[in-house]
Amino acid sequence: MSSEYQARYDSWHRAPEAYWDEAARRIDWITPYEKVFDPAQGPFGRWFPGGTLNTAANCLDRHIAAGAGERVALIWDSAMEGRIARYTYRALRDRVAKLAGALAARGVAKGDRVVIYMPMVPEAAIAMLACARLGAIHSVVFGGFAAPELASRIDSAEPKLVIAASCGLEPGRVVPYKPILDAALERAAHKPRACLIFQREALRADLVPGRDEDYLDAEAAAVPHDPVPVAATDPLYVLYTSGTTGRPKGIVRDNGGHAVALAATIPMMYDVHPGPGSASEVMWTASDVGWVVGHTYIVYAPLLAGVTTVMYEGKPVGTPDAGAFWRVCAQHGVKTLFTAPTALRAIKQQDPEGALTRQHDLSKLEALFLAGERCDPPTAEWIAALLGRPVIDNWWQTETGWPISARFRGLGLTAFKPGSGGRPCPGYEVRALNPEGGLMPSGEVGALAIRLPLPPGCAPTLWHDDEGYRRAYLETFPGWYRTGDAGMVDEDGDIWVMGRTDDIINVAGHRLSTGAMEEVLAAHPDVAECAVIGRHDAVKGEVPLGLVVLKSGVARADAEIAAELVALVRERIGPVAAFKDALVVQRLPKTRSGKILRATMKQMANGAQPVIPPTIEDAAVLDQIAPLLSP
Ligand code: COA
Ligand code: AMP
Repeated sequence: MSSEYQARYDSWHRAPEAYWDEAARRIDWITPYEKVFDPAQGPFGRWFPGGTLNTAANCLDRHIAAGAGERVALIWDSAMEGRIARYTYRALRDRVAKLAGALAARGVAKGDRVVIYMPMVPEAAIAMLACARLGAIHSVVFGGFAAPELASRIDSAEPKLVIAASCGLEPGRVVPYKPILDAALERAAHKPRACLIFQREALRADLVPGRDEDYLDAEAAAVPHDPVPVAATDPLYVLYTSGTTGRPKGIVRDNGGHAVALAATIPMMYDVHPGPGSASEVMWTASDVGWVVGHTYIVYAPLLAGVTTVMYEGKPVGTPDAGAFWRVCAQHGVKTLFTAPTALRAIKQQDPEGALTRQHDLSKLEALFLAGERCDPPTAEWIAALLGRPVIDNWWQTETGWPISARFRGLGLTAFKPGSGGRPCPGYEVRALNPEGGLMPSGEVGALAIRLPLPPGCAPTLWHDDEGYRRAYLETFPGWYRTGDAGMVDEDGDIWVMGRTDDIINVAGHRLSTGAMEEVLAAHPDVAECAVIGRHDAVKGEVPLGLVVLKSGVARADAEIAAELVALVRERIGPVAAFKDALVVQRLPKTRSGKILRATMKQMANGAQPVIPPTIEDAAVLDQIAPLLSP
């Protein structure tokens, strides 16, 4: 047990407001906040009310003013284009200020929304920071989502402007983004005033006259814009994530709490530091800016801390091989690598002995961070033995914006416990609760919950939906935030996250709603009813499996309908859903009240002993589908 970690955690627990007041000193405030926390505002309270700041200025201008303008802020490494580009803090600030000027010239002002639909190019980060500079609220949509998903986010966020790229680059194919944007805009009720399109050489897009403009031309012609002061409680971004319905939830991130919380995590968890002078240690998060991990640890947190961040366009395997991650680490002197366990499983499958690690100089790599899904102990043990470095599993969600639990290199706590998500970060008190809201004994699984108030940086509400926030997170266990994860806290205080308590599945580290997929299947004219469950996958962790009952009288071949269903999910939700399997069955198992037994089927599909509820309507249905489900 690290006494330094414990002392830090206890100091937060004893006096949370004093702890956060101290942490807030890492940030440049334009006007000081009136209170550290006000419990009377919003669903559970608001952090740093009365304060004003600018997040982009804290990410960029502040470091330049401190003499670090020539330090490298961002290294872009595209395995897809075979190109590397480096941006100093000054160069990045200059591009951000110009793009902010271009946005302002097109009417974007504080509080306006901008939707960003881009692959892993520096222009995506520049667009995010340009919005932050103006106090505009960005909403980044992951490139693997299809037009209807993009349209639903556009209709919810009502952006004044959309920033997109002409295409993304996936192994073996160019993904045209612009036609997806065009289809989404045709579908959406809300129409933005303009679209800025970043043209990539691999596939230039036709621009719609009067609506679309070239991103780089607009940036080049613009007058740089100064940072605009915003309230600590003003939104910095809205990031949509899967909820339990087909409609994504707009997770709101505010400016003040976000900056304070993120800046604090870098020395505490990562132990990555800027300097001396223009030098800096390098951190690399191999995620995508479309996910919260990308927002936090590719863009905002490293820049707030003034260190160097790597943005990688490519995959862990196939671009060109399973040594891609080790090549990037060696080439850029990466000190900490952050990825999802699925990426390691993909590497392990192709290079089980880790031979490719030995072809690269990993002497600067000090630790590996894992999140996005539960890391199975065999994978954790494999990579720990291979690298001989601390492996730090950390548990969080789009809602929290930064880790709920982790291990803490800066506080001397790195002991390895494969399968565990680590200790709570200062700011979070985590407990496993029983259905009545009572505490579970240590070591017993319950619903994981966080005692209110949530710390700075966590979503204070949902976009335009305080009530939805209360319903989704606060009502089940009064006084607690319901994480939607099941797990336990062991006798050492380590947290174990075992799975979701709702219908969300985690596919290759991507959070997806089976409910949303069921809505798509149910829309097929031949489908009477359906269920989607998560089935174990050796690389992706989980993949969706659809079971459908056809309407009576449908006489078409099952395989033909299944292929249509696979195509439909790809078209409506996107390739990221990885929906490749639909089975036609005669009936679905149900309780007498008509509830489909998804959990029981999931257990059967994953080789677990199924729990069959006594209220089952007809046990024979389970026997019928058992051979189809067997793993
Ligand atoms: N734009 C367009 N399409 C995209 C996309 C993007 N940004 N990202 C993924 N896709 C497509 C892929 O091309 C693939 O399409 P396909 O069905 O035609 O093959 C599909 O969406 C699924 O993609 P992905 O989940 O990336 O699976 P994969 O089989 O291509 O690769 C892994 C598997 C494990 C290598 C990959 O998922 C991975 O690197 N995962 C890490 C996840 C991660 O970083 N998560 C963030 C949380 S920390
Ligand atoms: P997202 O909002 O996309 O970041 O997904 C959050 C969900 O991913 C969590 O609620 C968990 O179910 C899962 N998750 C993320 N990190 C971990 C982790 N380290 N261990 C277990 N599950 C995790």
